[in-house]
This record gives sequence, C-alpha cells and structure tokens, in this order.
Amino acid sequence: MSTRHESAHLHVSGRALYTDDISLPSNTLHAAFGLSSIAHGRIRTLNIGPVQSFPGVFAVASAADVPGENNYGSAVPDDPIFAPGLVEYVGAPIFAVAADQYITARKAAQLAQVDYEPLPAILDIRAALAANATVLPPQRLLRGRPHEMLAEAPHRLKGTVHVGGQDHLYLEGQIAIAVPQEDGAMLIHSSTQHPSEVQQIVAHALSKHANQITVQCRRMGGGFGGKETQPALIAAAAAVLAHKTGRPIKLRLDRDTDMVMTGKRHDFLADYEVGFDSSGRIMALSVMLASRCGYSADLSGPVNDRAMMHLDNAYFLENVEIVSHRCKTHTVSNTAFRGFGGPQGMVVIEQIVDSIARALGMDPLAVRRRNFYGTHARNVTPYGQIVEDNLVHLIVDRLVESSHYRERRRQIAEWNATEPPVRRGIALTPVKFGISFTATLFNQAGALIHVYTDGTVLLNHGGTEMGQGLFTKVAQVVATELGLPLAAIRVSATDTSKVPNTSATAASASSDLNGKAAQAAAQTIRERLTQFACEAYSVTATEVTFKDGQVFIGSQQMSFAELVQQAYRARISLSSTGYYRTPKIEYDKSTLRGRPFFYYAYGAAVSEVAVDTLTGETRLLRVDILHDAGRPLNAAIDLGQVEGGFLQGVGWLTSEELWWNERGELRTHAPSTYKIPTARDWPPQWRVELLEGRPNSEDTIYRSKAVGEPPLMLAISTLLAIRDAIASCGSARALPDLVAPATPEAVLRCIENINAGTIVYQAALVGEEAGL
Ligand code: MTE
Ligand code: MOS
Repeated sequence: MSTRHESAHLHVSGRALYTDDISLPSNTLHAAFGLSSIAHGRIRTLNIGPVQSFPGVFAVASAADVPGENNYGSAVPDDPIFAPGLVEYVGAPIFAVAADQYITARKAAQLAQVDYEPLPAILDIRAALAANATVLPPQRLLRGRPHEMLAEAPHRLKGTVHVGGQDHLYLEGQIAIAVPQEDGAMLIHSSTQHPSEVQQIVAHALSKHANQITVQCRRMGGGFGGKETQPALIAAAAAVLAHKTGRPIKLRLDRDTDMVMTGKRHDFLADYEVGFDSSGRIMALSVMLASRCGYSADLSGPVNDRAMMHLDNAYFLENVEIVSHRCKTHTVSNTAFRGFGGPQGMVVIEQIVDSIARALGMDPLAVRRRNFYGTHARNVTPYGQIVEDNLVHLIVDRLVESSHYRERRRQIAEWNATEPPVRRGIALTPVKFGISFTATLFNQAGALIHVYTDGTVLLNHGGTEMGQGLFTKVAQVVATELGLPLAAIRVSATDTSKVPNTSATAASASSDLNGKAAQAAAQTIRERLTQFACEAYSVTATEVTFKDGQVFIGSQQMSFAELVQQAYRARISLSSTGYYRTPKIEYDKSTLRGRPFFYYAYGAAVSEVAVDTLTGETRLLRVDILHDAGRPLNAAIDLGQVEGGFLQGVGWLTSEELWWNERGELRTHAPSTYKIPTARDWPPQWRVELLEGRPNSEDTIYRSKAVGEPPLMLAISTLLAIRDAIASCGSARALPDLVAPATPEAVLRCIENINAGTIVYQAALVGEEAGL
C-alpha cells in the first residue's frame, strides 16, 4: 500500500518536531565540548579556570565529574565520555561546559589550557598493520583449499582494493537534552537510533538504575548508522552536566564539531590474490582485509564481520580465505554506516571480478554470471549458510533486457573507439545482502498498543524513525490487522518507558521486527474484541470481521468505535503488548559459521557514466535499477529508500572524501570541503523498479523484505562504470588502478597511470601463462 510517509505533511511544512525544536524549561543551560587538539598524547595539566570564569558559564564537567562509569562503549567499554588523561584522536572530548547560551558555551570551550605530552600517532591502515595495532583480534574465514587451488589455477591476479570512509552527514546533527526529574530520575531527549543503549549508558554514567532514566525520540533528521552508538556520548555528557547543575542541559553539536568528533564509515584496504580459469570462473581467492577502526572498538567487530560475510556478494567462492584485521588508528572511532561493512566487502569482490574480466578480455557481466551462486548447487556461502531463494539470476536477466545493456555496451565501445576526450562507461552489478543482526540476540522486538474508547489507536514500538518510513509501515500493519483506516492510528515517540530493552533501529530489520511485534499486539486486541462480540451477539469467531473501520458481526454492522465502547463497558482490556523474535537464525560469532541471516535481499543496477579525461570529472548519465523488496509494505517508501540509498552510495564512491593531515586533523569537516551528492547529481535518465511477483519465501511481515541498506550497494555499478570508461584509455587488458572515492583527482591519477602502461594484466599476471 503506497501511502505517504506519516509525517510528510509535517516535514514539508517545517512543523515536524526534532529534538532541537522541543520546548525547553526556562532554566535550561546549553553545553559544548572541549576537544583534544592532538591525535595522541597524555594530558599533563588541564586548566579549566578561564572556561569557568567566562561570563555566562555555570559549570564545567570533566572525567572526575562522572559519578559512575566514564564510558559510552557498549560492545567493548573502551570509549571514555571525557578523556581521563590520555587523548587518542583530534576531537576527543576532554570536558563539557554549560552556559546560559549556546554561543557562550562554544566560546568558553575554546579557552581551556591543555598541556599535552605528545605520543606517536598511527594515522592510517598500513601504519597500523605495520605496528600490529588493533582494537580487536583478527578473524579468519576459510573454506576449501584456497592456497593449493591458487597454485593450480591457470590464471592468477594480485592487487589491492582501496575504499574510502564516509561521513553520515545526517541533516540533523547529534543532539541530546537531559532534564532532571524528581528523586534523582532523568528524562533524556536524544536523537538516537538506540534509545535503550542511551538509557543504559546514562544510567551507568550517573550510577543510577535503568528505571530512573527515560529516553525519548520522536524522529531523527537522518541517522544512517551514525546515531547507533554515538548519541550515548552526547546524552551522557549532557546528563553529567544536568546531574552536576541540577538544571536541564541541551547539548547540540555544530556541524564541524559533529564531523570531527563522531565516528564514520570504516575505510578499508584489501590485498588479494585470485586464481581463475579461462572462462572467468574463480577457483581460489585469498584476501587480507584491513579496516581503519579508529581509537576504539565501538561496532568495529560486527562491521568487519559483515564485511567478511559480504565479500562473496552474489558469487560462489569455493576456495576462499579472508583474514580480517581491525586496525587501531589515532583517529575518530569508526562506526555503523548504512550497509555496516557489507558495502566495503562487496566493493572488493566487484573490483576483483571486473579485473578478471578485463584480464581475460571478457564482458564483466559474463564473468559475474559465471560465478553467481547457483539455485540448487554451488549455493552455500563461505560461512555455511545456504542461499535458499536466489533471485540474482532472475533480477539480472530482467535488468539486462529492460536496460538494453548489450546494445548500450556496444554503442559505448564504438563511442570510445573514436578516442573522444569524454569517455563513457557502463557496468552492471548485483547485490545480495543478508538480513538480520549477526548478533542473534538483537533480533527481537516489542510493541505496545492502546485502543481508546473513541476507537482510535496509539501505537508504540521499539524502533525509531529516521526518515526511512518505519513508523508509517508499522502503523499500516496495525491498521490492516484491526481493519482501520491509517488515520485512526497514531504513532508516538519511541520511549524506553513504554517498550523496554529494545535493539538499535539498524540492520534494515526494523520493519521486519517491529512490524511483527505490532502485528502480534494488534492481533491480541482483535482476538479479545472478537471473543467479546461472539459472547455478546451469540455468533462464532468466523462471523466477526474488521474492515474499513467497521465491524461485521453476523448480520450486524457497527463502527469499530462502537464495538470498542461496548467492550470497554464489559471491562475488556483494550491495551496489549506484542513481541517477536526472528526464527531460524543461529550463528557462532567465534567461528563465523551458521545461519546469521533470516534471508537475503537482492537487487541489481546498471550505471552509465561520462568521464572527462582532461579534468577527471565524472557524471552519472543513466541508472537502471531492479530491486527486491519482497511484497513491499509500502512501495512508494521503498522506492524512496532505493533511490536515496543508491545516491548515498554514489556519493560514498565518487565524491565524498575524508582527508586527514599529517597531524591527524580532519580537514574535510564541513560540506564546503566534503562533497555529498545533491539533486543535481541524480542522473538525467533513470528507471527504478521494485521486483514484482516475488514475495519473501520466509514468513516475514506480509512477506515483505527489508529495504533500508541494500540499495546503497547498487552504487558500486557507478564506480565500475567509471572504471570501464577509464579502461578505454589504456591498452587492451589494462587494469585501471582506481581507488574509491573516484574523485576527479583519483580519476586523473588513474588515467595517467593507465596511459603510462604501468598497470596492465601482463605485469600483474603470475603463473604459467605469464607473458600472454
Ligand atoms: N533512510 C533515511 N531516510 N534516513 C536514514 O537515516 N538509515 C538507513 C536506512 N534508511 C536511514 C534510511 C539505515 S543505516 C538503516 S539500518 C535503515 O534505514 C534502518 O531502518 P529500517 O530498519 O527501518 O530499514
Ligand atoms: Mo544501519 S548502518 O544498520 O544503522
């Protein structure tokens, strides 16, 4: 059902309330952080005197002011709220100051005198690998005999794939408001994907119990994974100041501070060796995967696990070894970002497949097809999960036809053969993305539904709204179950005092999880009402139906509200909780084996680009997408997720460059220097469709599929289309050494290299056919 977003009218008219818009008590103070200016070092002395004496300042809090645990790390407790004496990145919070005005707090925060004893800083992945600096132990995924098979393979290729990080650039920055309540309790308004974690971290920081802390979030202005763990820091710092002053504290990061001090997508590098036969079939693959985790673990464990488990993408890798290093650097601690490591893993294999095709002089699509998972055989992933409902063949076949891939590829080759300064390129890439939290325990959800005597419904569930349309979808489920118009359902702010112990709204699984939980709650209410109607009107349950706000009871008809009033008078409970846990999944994270995912979501995209070989600028000319959302809960919202996810991926792979200088200072800390895509970057020609007629083969809510993250990875087609255009500048079988993001500088560098003939297949080839 393609209804509009439940808040669309508020979004477009500016009346949607975000955390920054909440009316504040008149005694509220505004806070700002004081940050480390060096990448690594000890604080010899911290003089906050000038901060404290600045007019308008009420209080300063540093590590010594945290009554409980000075930590906001959840998976691993290695993230101090305030640096306890050691700073490990430029931007590490050292203290926070509360003042009567926001601007006062920000000015005062600059006045602290910090004397550091500098220590050597590790600033990139290679340096961390050399120093063996890690935040977590390495992981290894092995299947078959990759090393023996590499030796036997007729063709081998070695190379390195670089893929950059990404800032979330949610339009609404990080923010929290902490409001002290009676008897030591605290109310927190937080822009968070994970209210329960904020609740826990604040409780621990203040040395209070969970039942004293309430966290609310009506909506975020985007999260994209950046508000999974980071908001706990903001909320905890606000709570510490609120505790110290006894007054409400609002802590909002300005954009530059947000970009400097909060975690981002991990950049990765992969050194690989692949063995293949003359048909392009991959016989063996060995990959050393390393990522920049920053100074602490945060979510780097599961992010890197997911990278390993998506390095196969849609391809059957019979003999494979992936060794994953979680590198420690003295930069901001990287975190969740749409796709959660999956996109980085998939970029690696897609570049390898592309190189195999170029080395053999084949169409990359042919090499892709040669290696796709089968539908009956060759369908087990390296981690042991059977790919049960493989839609890759179907989707790719349909997309090849509908996009006219073959004809266009031919035309592009003809165009490029005339050696024009503006080259064109085309690529088709598939997506197979596993749905579920890899940590099995998080795959649970709760909901709470109240029916009032006027027949309206208030819905609450554990998920959070960040623009992705979750609240709309879950409301649709409740409306469907109770036979009510959508207008009868109101979704209230996510609130830890209504649904407890929730998981983060993440892993794209929130409509699967909360939709099912809300369905269970609605069904309980419907069953109670049905039973009441049976007794009151002497009918059987099959004679009671709920439809269009009406209830049909035998030959009678009444409004839902009328039945509800009768049930209320008869003392029937009109409130219910609902609970859901995902079936079938089981997974051992120490061995990386089992069935981590309930199912897979699929898709494919064809990108066509133009590359100006004189300036390195690129332009996306056309995209064709066919994406699998099962039987969509809301096709309009799902198409929005596909389009938005795709373009966010294009930004990641083509224009968004994070650049730290040799002192570890992030120099791209505002939209002036960090270029996200805009409406102008949407291609002039596009066709985005959802796969029809393929409901989820698993019993998800109305047989839908998760759609939040998978479309981001469709953008890999754009990167490879650029690579395709660049390849036309080189000799036959040349392998463009294109890094991501493919900024104009990177593209020009790659064109220069390829013209110099430095990177061609012959040079990279090892084995018996060397010199081919
Ligand atoms: N869409 C919008 N508009 N804003 C967002 O912040 N986050 C993405 C995706 N789509 C996001 C979004 C991420 S990272 C995830 S995990 C999912 O939405 C989370 O929501 P879901 O589980 O309801 O799909
Ligand atoms: Mo999404 S990265 O799982 O919040």
